[in-house]
Amino acid sequence: MQNPTILAIESSCDDTSAAVFKNGKVASNFICNQKIHEQYGGVVPELASRDHLKNIVPVVEEALKQSNTKLEHVDVFACTVAPGLIGSLMVGVCYAKGLAMAMNKPLIGVNHMQAHVLANFIDEPTPKFPCLCLTVSGGHTQIVLIKNFLEQEVIGETLDDAAGEAFDKTAKMLGLPYPGGPLVDKYAQLGNPKTYDFPEPKIADLNFSFSGLKTSVLYFLQKQKLANPNFVEENLNDICASVQQRIVSILLNKLNKASIQTGIREICIAGGVSANSGLRQMAADFAKQKNWNLYIPKFEYCTDNAGMIAITAYQKYLKNEFDDLDLSPMAR
Ligand code: KG4
Ligand code: ZN
Repeated sequence: MQNPTILAIESSCDDTSAAVFKNGKVASNFICNQKIHEQYGGVVPELASRDHLKNIVPVVEEALKQSNTKLEHVDVFACTVAPGLIGSLMVGVCYAKGLAMAMNKPLIGVNHMQAHVLANFIDEPTPKFPCLCLTVSGGHTQIVLIKNFLEQEVIGETLDDAAGEAFDKTAKMLGLPYPGGPLVDKYAQLGNPKTYDFPEPKIADLNFSFSGLKTSVLYFLQKQKLANPNFVEENLNDICASVQQRIVSILLNKLNKASIQTGIREICIAGGVSANSGLRQMAADFAKQKNWNLYIPKFEYCTDNAGMIAITAYQKYLKNEFDDLDLSPMAR
């Protein structure tokens, strides 16, 4: 069958999401973000699993409804299998397995990072192979060489914190609630990125490091607050703009290095941090200067979503890469 209907589930962290892929495209992508973690300043794994359990049935029903699909018309079930929080993954994997078993249909397990990359292939125009993808999320920061849909090679990655963590930890130091990345972005848009100069780490190859930046922001804030206890409140926009500028320049300078090394100018960006307005703007500037063809998914396909699981499952379906019902989630 060239045109299967696929029901995909994503539950690797704190978003419960389901999507339907049919007639060759993502027909629905419903995402339920768990608010419960805000009060704890980070994702609490046990609470995440419990919330997935509560959300999974209505989220799947909504994805089916929005795409006008009946469960009995689904040809293939798919789910994120790794990497992620094991309890969270378990909910999506077990639910997808249960549906596949009950409906007597095949099952496909999908790698979450591979799926973030393939989010760039949901809407036209799509990148041409080979291309490079900067994948920036809360848990990962990678430069990936994409030879074709399922042949992806990580050619650079973070040695410590992920880019999303750098945003979230900065936000925490500024007293902003979790997840702080979007808030740093919001305040940065009102500030001057040239106000404070934070150091760019000197890391070999195509790898990244954000822990030095985190420490320098911490020491900078401690020093400023000694002189003026209201320093953060009075300068929030400029601090956010300056830190964001540095995170983004670290990312794009490495991406540029990868483009020069490989000679590839088909460039994609993926993962939650690709929603960042500073990254989008500066990437567009780089694209103009360096003659890149730049691709960034729509916002709903940047952060965790099942649409990207569905399109990856479709590619695996075309290659007959099915899993059996022994499929187990893996944290890594
Ligand atoms: O890909 P994702 O939804 O989940 C993971 O797989 O980790 O990425 C979540 C990360 C969080 O660190 C969040 O703060 C960050 O993406 N993020 C942003 C923005 N939107 C989400 N960081 C900076 N600016 C944004 N607009
Ligand atoms: Zn993710």
